[in-house]
Amino acid sequence: MLNHSGSPDLYTRRLHLRPYRPEDWRAMFDNWAGDPEVTKYLSWGPHASPEVTKGVLEMWVESYVSPTVYRWGIEKEGELIGDIAVTLWREEEESCEIGYCLCRRFWNQGLMTEALNRVVRYLFETVGFHRIAICHDVQNPASGRVMEKCGLKKEGVFRGMKKRKDGSWMDVAYYAILSDDPR
Ligand SMILES: CC(C)(COP(=O)(O)OP(=O)(O)OC[C@H]1O[C@@H](n2cnc3c(N)ncnc32)[C@H](O)[C@@H]1OP(=O)(O)O)[C@@H](O)C(=O)NCCC(=O)NCCS
Repeated sequence: MLNHSGSPDLYTRRLHLRPYRPEDWRAMFDNWAGDPEVTKYLSWGPHASPEVTKGVLEMWVESYVSPTVYRWGIEKEGELIGDIAVTLWREEEESCEIGYCLCRRFWNQGLMTEALNRVVRYLFETVGFHRIAICHDVQNPASGRVMEKCGLKKEGVFRGMKKRKDGSWMDVAYYAILSDDPR
């Protein structure tokens, strides 16, 4: 059985993962939610204005009353630079899926690997998930590399599984890690 524990502050060598606050809208919009390059391979498009980001944040902040919400802002040296969250979970199967994105200025410095490692450890050790999966558009190999570096194993590619924002069909690569896999 899962021990739902919400989104407490988590720390890594360089990062502070923390619950969102309403005033985070500016950094969130400027650093990732408003950047078409960041959202290129995501299911959602860039926010059209900071007002959209404010609305999303309001919902996220309210959602923290539930201990089943796992969503953190990623902070580095006091600046909010990205997002990592459980995007869906299944109680019966004790499994969940994760999504993440990071401000472009900070790509390729090992930061999402650091954040994902910490979140995976929390979800296994504190919440008690048995299986954690993440998927990515095959055209976005950097995300698969983050998964590999965190010990997730590639389980397969689902051809034409989703429709991209431009209407083309996406092959989706699935990775997962089990609680007793080596990390
Ligand atoms: C995917 C993303 C989260 C990666 O974050 P990051 O902090 O840059 O990741 P890391 O630095 O920990 O690792 C990135 C790895 O991908 C590699 N990489 C980067 N671009 C690549 C490419 N085009 N092809 C293959 N590998 C690539 C890097 O070299 C690095 O691997 P290495 O450490 O072996 O050299 C970030 O690029 C991002 O936010 N992208 C936009 C949103 C997104 O795609 N989210 C994931 C949706 S599934």
